[in-house]
Amino acid sequence: MKILVVGSGAREDAICQALQKNSQNVVFCAPGNDGMKLSEIKTISIEENDFERMANFAKTNAIDFTIVGPEEPLVNGIVDFFKRQGLKIFGPNKQAAQVEGSKVFTKRLMADAGIPTAQYQEFTKLENALNYLKATSDFPIVIKADGLAAGKGVFIASDLVTAIETVTDLLAEHKFGTKKVVIEEFLEGEEFSLMAFVDHKRFYPMPLAQDYKKIFDGDEGPNTGGMGAVCPVSNLSKDIEQVAVETVLKPFVAELYKEGIKYTGILYAGLILTKNGIKVIEFNARFGDPETEVVLPRLQSDLSEIIEQILCHKSIKKIDWETNGINLGVFAVSKGYPVKPVFGSLGDRDSFKKCPLMINYAAVKQDQQKLFSHGGRLYLMQAQAESVEDAQVKVYRELEKMDQTNIFYRRDIGKNSI
Ligand code: AMP
Ligand code: GLY
Repeated sequence: MKILVVGSGAREDAICQALQKNSQNVVFCAPGNDGMKLSEIKTISIEENDFERMANFAKTNAIDFTIVGPEEPLVNGIVDFFKRQGLKIFGPNKQAAQVEGSKVFTKRLMADAGIPTAQYQEFTKLENALNYLKATSDFPIVIKADGLAAGKGVFIASDLVTAIETVTDLLAEHKFGTKKVVIEEFLEGEEFSLMAFVDHKRFYPMPLAQDYKKIFDGDEGPNTGGMGAVCPVSNLSKDIEQVAVETVLKPFVAELYKEGIKYTGILYAGLILTKNGIKVIEFNARFGDPETEVVLPRLQSDLSEIIEQILCHKSIKKIDWETNGINLGVFAVSKGYPVKPVFGSLGDRDSFKKCPLMINYAAVKQDQQKLFSHGGRLYLMQAQAESVEDAQVKVYRELEKMDQTNIFYRRDIGKNSI
């Protein structure tokens, strides 16, 4: 089959490499990145929001189906655009992608389905939001911009002064272009991610994963796009996974269907295990990044076949996953990330080719025989091993062999799982 993957990060690299496990598949990625070329992925220079050129490419190259990685094209309606032209594409349509595009939309669906999530209030008027904040004593409090904010729209305010400043930025200055905020209860506990393939009312869960969001060891410092990930999450029992499926995924998928929202694609639930049980932090309308990088290598069934079946709305009997050991991935990022990343050489292409571990590339460019950084997150290196400790030894041993001049990485990925 000929398959087009939309996006340019390590997540899309992981999707492409999973598709390539079936040697019959020819995999294109648009726009992709130069690192992907090391694993023979064909990159096409079409930007992810250029739907016209993307669809023309799919037509002229007889692409069997397209898979969308990032949220922006989904929320902007790439699926609707492709379908209008009779092209097959895997992902939720514009309406269904509101699951990620609008926090208010999703909170309402959760309330209707009785799914546990943080208590919240929505505000469009600054004055009302300020009055609400002044009347509460529940700090820290969480303030979220409604709409996509590239992962930057969530603020945890530890006191009233910070909360007032944040809400004023959002509702008076319209930071991130938002007109609405959600103010919600701060939840405490261990966070984990549960993804599923969804075909209208049917869904097929993937194993649990965990993302390490903070820049520094010990979960210190500002949030990033993700500094590493593990799958499965060995300190969360199988029971937790089952409870999450029963109390979150199942009622949410059923509610979407009941509301007439035809969801096809990946549904991502960001969850937290509080002392009052599992609650939802957020839903996303796509594969998680960097969770996908460590989840998909554990898929033993053929990814292209799963997606083909879903696109034909055929039920899938069984999806097989690796049940032994753990996959652990560590992101090498630019020094200075996430505040002010500094770019430079990452070393010879050959040093990457020689690495015995799987690498997924993100913001890298190739010039002559060298790779260079041109963004924050550069490449995720991962190992599969019997235990977290063994996986850490394998990954860190190989990462240390790479050119260290312009990279930084956390040394404790997997720590919660030991
Ligand atoms: P999001 O962009 O919605 O993924 O949120 C980013 C991060 O903010 C989450 O992964 C959590 O760590 C944190 N967060 C979001 N909502 C809450 C909440 N209600 N309580 C505590 N932390 C939260
Ligand atoms: N890992 C979090 C996300 O993909 O949004």
